[in-house]
Amino acid sequence: MRKKTNTPPSSDVHLNLKQYKKIYKQSITDPNRFWGEQAKKFISWFTPWKKVSSGDFRKQTKQWFVDGKLNACYNCVDRHLETHKDKPAIIWEGDDPNKSLTITYGELHEKVCRFANVLKKQGVEKGDRVCIYLPMIPETAIAMLACARIGAIHSVVFGGFSSESLKTRLLDLGCKIVITADESVRRGLYIPLKKNADTAIQDCPKVKKVIVVKHTGNPVEWHKKRDIWYHDAMKEVDAVCPVKIMDANDTLFVLYTSGSTAKPKGIVHTTGGYLVYVAMTFKTIFNYQDGDIYWCTADLGWITGHSYLLYGPLANGATTLMFEGVPSYPTYSRYWEMIDKYHVNIFYTAPTAIRTLRHEGDTWVTKTNRSSLKLLGTVGEPISPDVWEWYYRVVGKSKCPIVDTWWQTETGGVLITPLVGVTPAKPGSAAWPFYGIVPEIIDENGKIIKDTRPGKLVIKHSWPGMLETIWHNRIRFIKGYFEEVPGKYFTGDNAYRDKDGYFWILGREDDVIKVSGHRIGTGEVESALLTVHKISEAAVVAIPNEIKGHGIFAYVVTKPNTDLTDLKKTLNKAIQKEIGKIAVLEEVLHVKELPKTRSGKIMRRLLRKIAANEFEELGDTSTLADPSVIDDIIYQRKKIND
Ligand code: WT7
Repeated sequence: MRKKTNTPPSSDVHLNLKQYKKIYKQSITDPNRFWGEQAKKFISWFTPWKKVSSGDFRKQTKQWFVDGKLNACYNCVDRHLETHKDKPAIIWEGDDPNKSLTITYGELHEKVCRFANVLKKQGVEKGDRVCIYLPMIPETAIAMLACARIGAIHSVVFGGFSSESLKTRLLDLGCKIVITADESVRRGLYIPLKKNADTAIQDCPKVKKVIVVKHTGNPVEWHKKRDIWYHDAMKEVDAVCPVKIMDANDTLFVLYTSGSTAKPKGIVHTTGGYLVYVAMTFKTIFNYQDGDIYWCTADLGWITGHSYLLYGPLANGATTLMFEGVPSYPTYSRYWEMIDKYHVNIFYTAPTAIRTLRHEGDTWVTKTNRSSLKLLGTVGEPISPDVWEWYYRVVGKSKCPIVDTWWQTETGGVLITPLVGVTPAKPGSAAWPFYGIVPEIIDENGKIIKDTRPGKLVIKHSWPGMLETIWHNRIRFIKGYFEEVPGKYFTGDNAYRDKDGYFWILGREDDVIKVSGHRIGTGEVESALLTVHKISEAAVVAIPNEIKGHGIFAYVVTKPNTDLTDLKKTLNKAIQKEIGKIAVLEEVLHVKELPKTRSGKIMRRLLRKIAANEFEELGDTSTLADPSVIDDIIYQRKKIND
């Protein structure tokens, strides 16, 4: 039998099992000492903290690096100039394989300083919110770092979100400035970003200026008083810009993510704790060595892009590769060709991409070389053992360890992961907790599960990368994360721990669906469906999907005498308008009624089972107000199967 291993062949194994156990124990018995040391090692501080941490996690008053002063941009750019001025910081490749660009640390410094001055010239000050609605181009990273440099809070909105989504975020944050581009490009197709931004801003009176990057060069509508070309503005300012001294607990950014209600939540991350956590986890988990080329395929519009494409790598003076396109264009060899072209050593992607590429057959992979690869990573959803095996054997030629990293927008960085050289791999398991992390599995009565039964995954103690709050909604923060299991951080996931202490993540236990690794709230989709006049009620659940992991399944009740032609198309159009292209209905089931309890609650458990064609295992239906409703739904479900 082939030996399964997580041990790299080279000599750069930085740890062994005994050392891990020792460090882990120290990290949880004396977290202040542990994180104090890490903070000194990984980050340059203008003023050291007075206390490594203060407050009480159970009361949500915990703070890290109290009164410490630093600047995130300084840590990611300026401090590398002395030794790494000519080292590539960002390598960019466009959707078009013939377009690429390398930006050294020296060049990045100049661009970031200039753009920070552009923002200052527009009146942006510390604490102001700046929205970044850009494609995957270097200007996105430059804009984020420029905000960090002057203490402005950036909020990146993924370019695939619609103008409605953008509007909701702009209003919630009260942004004064939006940075966008004429268009973005994917698979050779153009997406009208500026036009989307214009539509969103119509209803956002606080937005005073829109800075526009000329990316494709196609004509855009221009609002003379409001719009500014990025390239013009960059010429008119100085290349020198001092950094703002920030408190460790000042906000670095807000990033929206889906929860169980219709309204997305603005996850707030601090400057000090977040930066320490991403810098330290990046180096430790990816085993980054100076000179390595690192590639994370995530978009900067998601937390993976923030933490492990930008802040983590740059805080370590690494070379980070940034890709505008998709894995299937121009061919299914694109990722592997890029790995050869740039001699990528560390590659971090999502199971959904791996599944798509595996589905297309091995030849797309095997015709490339990939000999530069040393380590592979995955994130975003559970990876099944067969997909893991394929990634290991075909992509990594059975010589690269895989890190299956479990974390969330809220956690800032990775919390559960294998460590290279330490954790013998179990394909499909995210393995063991990272330093300082104490996960627990909780049963339905709130009791800790000590054996291997599944339950709710919670985290017992604070860690520096944890979200500080939800933007302007502390109540939702406390309710959402600390009340399900009192005093512990509730992840929203189900998991179990096997007899060897490995964690197996089973997926979300709340009303969140992971579609192609994207986090989508069922509440958001339902409220989008209800914008369609003919719909009177809607309930959305997840169904298993071979490539996407999960798909969206909608049950709808319509108003009397409704024309049902093109129902799915109409509903998808509404979702696209309200949310964006990331959410598409896989199936719609038109039903007479939704199954409700006597108190009016929709029984989603039943809807999930029926969507998945599991009619035999419906369990107790006696609490339904009208049990016959179920028969009709099953009948309709079976009809679409035929
Ligand atoms: C949810 C968080 C963290 C970056 C990307 C996603 C799922 C994440 C794994 C993994 C199994 C995973 C969880 C989690 N998830 N990584 N390695 N194995 N599930 O961030 O959009 O905030 O989603 O993604 O369900 O709760 P996110």
